[in-house]
Amino acid sequence: MNRGFWYLHRAKATAWTEAGMKSEDELTGSISTEKGFGGYRVVAFEARFAQEMAKLIVSHGGEPLVAPAMAEVPLGQNVSAFDFAERLFRGELPVVVFLTGVGTRALFEVLETRYSRAQLVEALGKVTVVARGPKPVSALRGFSVPVTVAVPEPNTWHELLETMDASERCPALKGLTVAVQEYGVPNTELLQELKKRGAQVLQVPVYRWALPEDTRPVEQAIQRLIAGDCQVALFTNAMQVSHLFQLATQMGVTDPLRDAMSHVVVGSVGPLCSLALRELGVPVDFEPHHPKMGQLVAEAAQQAHKLLAQKSTRGNGGFVTAAVFREEADKTGATNWDKLESSAFLRACRRLPTDFTPIWLMRQAGRYMPEYREIRAKNSFLELCKNSDLAAEVTVTAAHRLGVDAAIIFADILLIVEPMGLGLRFEKGDGPSIDGMIRTHADVARLREVEPEESLSYVFDAIRKTRAGLRSDIPLIGFAGAPFTLASYIVEGGASKNYRHTKALMYGEPAAWHAMMASIARSLVKYLNGQIAAGAQAVQLFDSWVGCLSPDDYRDFVLPYTRQVIEGVKPGVPVINFSTGTSSYLEIVSSAGGDVIGIDWRVDLGEAWSRIGFDKGIQGNLDPLLLFADPTTIKARALRLLEKTAGRPGYIFNLGHGILPETPVDNVLTLVDAVHEFSRK
Ligand code: CP3
Repeated sequence: MNRGFWYLHRAKATAWTEAGMKSEDELTGSISTEKGFGGYRVVAFEARFAQEMAKLIVSHGGEPLVAPAMAEVPLGQNVSAFDFAERLFRGELPVVVFLTGVGTRALFEVLETRYSRAQLVEALGKVTVVARGPKPVSALRGFSVPVTVAVPEPNTWHELLETMDASERCPALKGLTVAVQEYGVPNTELLQELKKRGAQVLQVPVYRWALPEDTRPVEQAIQRLIAGDCQVALFTNAMQVSHLFQLATQMGVTDPLRDAMSHVVVGSVGPLCSLALRELGVPVDFEPHHPKMGQLVAEAAQQAHKLLAQKSTRGNGGFVTAAVFREEADKTGATNWDKLESSAFLRACRRLPTDFTPIWLMRQAGRYMPEYREIRAKNSFLELCKNSDLAAEVTVTAAHRLGVDAAIIFADILLIVEPMGLGLRFEKGDGPSIDGMIRTHADVARLREVEPEESLSYVFDAIRKTRAGLRSDIPLIGFAGAPFTLASYIVEGGASKNYRHTKALMYGEPAAWHAMMASIARSLVKYLNGQIAAGAQAVQLFDSWVGCLSPDDYRDFVLPYTRQVIEGVKPGVPVINFSTGTSSYLEIVSSAGGDVIGIDWRVDLGEAWSRIGFDKGIQGNLDPLLLFADPTTIKARALRLLEKTAGRPGYIFNLGHGILPETPVDNVLTLVDAVHEFSRK
């Protein structure tokens, strides 16, 4: 029996000589074991090869603590799966929903112990088969099962239901029994929604692995990790991760365990296992070069001392080791929409009352933060934007560190100019510069419309990763430059003082101007909706430089295009329409659209809101330079702004423009705390 708890001292290693055990050479391969763990306590959760794992750790100089975290469930014990098949054959299940690829395969594996594949395929061929995303689709194709309805990205239960409701190929659900394949945690929201539509739901769970009968060894391992009694933790599959945290949740020690795990060297056998760890907020320190148990232990032994030393010097707040928190582990990977919808930020966007005033800050992830500078020292700004892992980490770390109520994706308004066919560079001290400026009708003609799914897919990847790493009550804001501000960059070739070339084109070649703005607007609609599909809950348009225009010119040359973009954004997703320098014609800016109007500091908040109308939300207004004042002044000014809102719902605290690079981080923290404290009801 492999159940039990192995806590071995080196001397006991020779005890593991049971028949059937793999030889040490076979397990370790040819990796050198010279350096070794040097007496470190190494915790591992392997079940099937628990004894071999213990011995491997010993042979590399470690003290093993092997607590098997799972037990195999015999296929034949999956009663619900067999019940499902019987009812399917009797024609009682007109609609079958497949949620996951792994689960679909597991279900077939179970059913094929009793029925032939042909029998199953024939029965499924007669009913409506719904697949939640590409993974179940490809699993079903592998079994030659025709898919009636495939759900588009991001494949949450929202899209699932929307697609089922809209599809002519899916019958009305009222009075029908819908079977839902499950693997892991049931999706309660989906089940409820199906029931609301009058369907009976048959849940079809498949179990391949369960918690071990005796959970005490894992519980003891958790306690010892929390007590700081282990230096290395090794995971050989994703299910161990989920079981470990399932037990920690039962013990009420999820946070202490997560914290403890950020102080030990965490080794993961491969990408799926690493994903499970990261989703639970556990940083992974390494994966072996080959996803094998022997290799994992051998490479852990080689690197443990170096990695542990790095972890303790970098500290907990460092970017690279920063734990990516997730309050609740949602094993299906689905976004917790209810929690997001009830967040203070999204409620304020919809002008609903909140318990406190939400705050986030434009440019909250940037050079003023030492963590950002550290990571930026090793990558150019564009490399950072294009590396979705790093971009996600920058956003998540800044949002969690500051304690703000929304995160903004790490990107730049100018990224879109590359797929338009122009060159983009960020040079030290000079700001952005764009090659191949647009100055004439001929130039406009060569401007490409952007297909963001191809050319800006890295932004969408970063959004998916950011969403997965953010706390489930923190909305993620997508963004883009507004048409005028983008136009000003591509016409001038960079920043500008008086927008000479921009205005020359506008006044001199109005037809070219309008063609350019229309093209930009079409690209922006696709880009913003792509961001939303990837996981952004709201979007902001930055019209940073539009304040250089007169009210008439704004109305004639800009408003139609900003409006076109805002109207093109997926309905129901809040849009923040931000501009600076537009105090004198805020009403016109606001008429371009947006659920929330972002303002700078050159106008009084109360006055601005009454001019925009209280049927819109409002954001911003604190002068970014106030963050250079002393804490008492910062607090007093925050309070003064809050008073100007007269307690009306729909105000989002923010600066009037981005945080400056030299801003002291402590002052930002002072501001965030003050806003929360003063506004809490
Ligand atoms: O927290 C966040 O808001 C991060 C995401 C973000 C960046 N740029 C990252 C960035 C956002 C929302 C922007 C928007 C942006 N970019 C705007 C609109 C907002 C505004 O401030 O008006 C504009 C005009 C740009 C264009 C741009 N990008 C400028 C003018 C600069 C500064 C150039 C410089 O050297 O100071 C950038 C670079 C940039 N964008 C940085 C960051 C973190 C700094 C790059 C670095 O690390 O060197």
